[in-house]
Amino acid sequence: SFVKIGIHDLEVATSHYVLDLDTLAERHDIDPKKFSIGLGQDTFSMPAPDEDIVTMAAEAAHTLLERHDASKIRQVLFATESSIDQSKAAGVYLHELLGLPANVRSVELKQACYSGTAALQMAVNAIARNPEEQVLVITSDVARYALDSGGEPTQGAGSVAMLISADPNLIEIEPGSGLHTTDVNDFWRPNDSTTPFVDGQLSLDAYLGATTAAWDDLLARRELGLEDIHRFLHHQPFTKMARKQLAALAEHTGTELSDDLIEESMSYNRALGNTYTASLYFALTAQLHNNSDLAGKRLGFFSYGSGAVAEFFTGVVQDNYQDHIYPQHVAKQLDNRVALTYDEYRELHSDFAATSETFTTTKTTNAPFRLSGVTEHQRRYEAQ
Ligand code: CAA
Repeated sequence: SFVKIGIHDLEVATSHYVLDLDTLAERHDIDPKKFSIGLGQDTFSMPAPDEDIVTMAAEAAHTLLERHDASKIRQVLFATESSIDQSKAAGVYLHELLGLPANVRSVELKQACYSGTAALQMAVNAIARNPEEQVLVITSDVARYALDSGGEPTQGAGSVAMLISADPNLIEIEPGSGLHTTDVNDFWRPNDSTTPFVDGQLSLDAYLGATTAAWDDLLARRELGLEDIHRFLHHQPFTKMARKQLAALAEHTGTELSDDLIEESMSYNRALGNTYTASLYFALTAQLHNNSDLAGKRLGFFSYGSGAVAEFFTGVVQDNYQDHIYPQHVAKQLDNRVALTYDEYRELHSDFAATSETFTTTKTTNAPFRLSGVTEHQRRYEAQ
């Protein structure tokens, strides 16, 4: 018999430090409104030397799993584009830190900011076959651009952990996606570089082209119109990008689309910066936290990863979702961040440790898990 499958629960984490974009604007002699209005960003998260994608993901998943029976989890799908190893999946470290059962499949997924959506869809498909099983989907990234580059104000860090199950408490993911893949070099990070290469204008065009094409592909497959979508959620490399996409979609479809369709999804990403794979799911989290009247309403998700892959899919908010959301946890994550001065920020950015060398980190983060260092080329994590 048909079962509803989707996002049962979710939790988030971000890093220890935050930089105010007004500070960056002042030191770079840029009008602060370029960032606050032009990009739609206020601050960005930055990891301490003893934090990374694993520590943030472990914190988000740890908080999440305090509410659930981990023995139902059969897969850990870890989506990231700021991977810490070329071979070993980040989720295997997480598995150990969280004390997950051994009888679990663990794998890492990559396709720029898109792979969290691939993980979500794979999880939904797996549960369609085994409805009693659950899947832990992790999105976790550190967006780190070169100093003094165009992307610098759009850095960020964060993780969203999601439990995917049958009879979900939050969102039923509906069958039928719109998909689009095209080979384009708008943003990429070769193996020998710790920061990405970006063609800024091309990346904007590629994002708009691919998401619009994904919308068209969906229309060819499902009886659905713009009027059936109550709110749109976007990958938000900076929140203004969601406005640009909505305007492009309006033009493409010859429809008037109000910014009210996206306004409630931006509050967390304005403060976090780009969280790559996690960005769309922070948009979802903000949407659920900023509107108390979503029960039964359909949300439309625009996922995009440079390179480029886009997917448009939909989900229906479940009736009692408000009993299963924790806005105070996100507020705490954001409020607990420690503000950096400009000089501290520059030093921290330059000190970024290469993963293959031996180093020890000083204890900075108060988060439940930290990276203590690297010895014998092996990353060492500890609970605290
Ligand atoms: N007051 C208000 N607005 C101002 C302003 C002021 N004083 N000064 C400038 N602005 C506006 C500009 O008009 C512009 O807005 P519009 O695009 O709506 O016209 C906006 O601020 C940005 O100004 P610029 O275009 O001059 O900015 P820039 O050239 O310095 O760089 C960027 C912008 C290309 C997005 C750059 O930040 C970048 O390279 N970012 C990284 C790449 C990226 O995020 N691309 C997004 C799509 S790719 C993707 O989504 C995948 C991913 O996560 C990376």
